[in-house]
Amino acid sequence: MNKKSSSSLWVSFVVSSCASVILSFFLGSWIIIFFRRMGIVDFRLPFPYEMIVISVFSGIIIGTIMMLIVGCSIINPLAKLREAIREVARGNFDVRLDEKIGIEQIREMVHDFNIMADEISGIETLRNDFIANVSHEIKTPISSIEGYATLLQNDEITEQDRKEYSEFIFESAKKLSTLTSNILKLSKLENQEIVQVKNKFSLDEQLRLAILTLEPQWTEKEHELDIELEHIIYFGSEELLLQVWLNLLVNAVKFTPSKKKISVSLYREDGAVVVKIADEGIGIPKEAQSHIFEKFYQADKMRSSGGTGLGLALVSRIVTLCEGSVSVESEEGKGSVFTVKLPE
Ligand SMILES: Nc1ncnc2c1ncn2[C@@H]1O[C@H](COP(=O)(O)OP(=O)(O)OP(=O)(O)O)[C@@H](O)[C@H]1O
Ligand SMILES: [Mg+2]
Repeated sequence: MNKKSSSSLWVSFVVSSCASVILSFFLGSWIIIFFRRMGIVDFRLPFPYEMIVISVFSGIIIGTIMMLIVGCSIINPLAKLREAIREVARGNFDVRLDEKIGIEQIREMVHDFNIMADEISGIETLRNDFIANVSHEIKTPISSIEGYATLLQNDEITEQDRKEYSEFIFESAKKLSTLTSNILKLSKLENQEIVQVKNKFSLDEQLRLAILTLEPQWTEKEHELDIELEHIIYFGSEELLLQVWLNLLVNAVKFTPSKKKISVSLYREDGAVVVKIADEGIGIPKEAQSHIFEKFYQADKMRSSGGTGLGLALVSRIVTLCEGSVSVESEEGKGSVFTVKLPE
């Protein structure tokens, strides 16, 4: 609870206590006047015991009523809040509280609790989905390794089959290794809030290096490369950003049919450094565009292009860590443009 809320709560307490005293005074006076008119008590006596008794009793009655009202409006919601917090601590993230509460500060606390419970249950769902996805992704290559290894044990298979099965085993092992290394990278980045190691480097040189690293892939597909890079010295994480360009370029090459163009540009715009990687590939359906940065998401449900669906999740996490942004514009059958903006 912040200082303002706690002081407002104190004000509520003080106001209700004052109201209790004032009401007691009025009720006491009214009873005294009534008793006097009726001639029940004689206030001309040297010490008005009756007056004291009446004042004390009216104070007790008013005080009790006021405290009951205060109790209902403050203590009850606080008790419910305490119980709800205990439920969350026990692992029940579905608990929510009714926000129809008269006192603003307590209503705010309950509202904040509900937001917190929503966030925690969202994280829990993500965690469960993540575990389900990882187990599913791991199971597929493991089953194929098991299957082909069993086939290899048969002495009667031909040399050609033996070669083919070994290749399948090698591919599945490679997929497992990429998957685990991507999961490790991602979980490390998710537990990181800032970029720890920063240095000055030439961003255009780094992009050229990334393009060269993938030369075997794009020459094999006979892609035309259109490169337009402004010379920019950038201060940031060299290692993490190289991963961003590699992942985006691998996608551009992978999802673009042979003999098409891939463009890479780097320039400054409105105080930011902009990198655009555009391709004339298969494009991304409209409904998939908002999901491609999610872990394990692949627009092609058959997963015919291979991969783990973690490449863009890594890109998005790294760019966020670098306080930048990544966006996509794409049209099915025409191509995609990925734009990364980094603050200078
Ligand atoms: N340039 C692109 N053109 C068309 N579709 C793309 C492009 N880049 C990404 N996608 C779509 O977004 C999905 C997610 O991309 P991401 O890089 O995360 O996974 P992946 O490439 O399938 O696997 P990985 O990167 O782990 O090897 C892809 O499966 C693809 O459907
Ligand atoms: Mg990818």
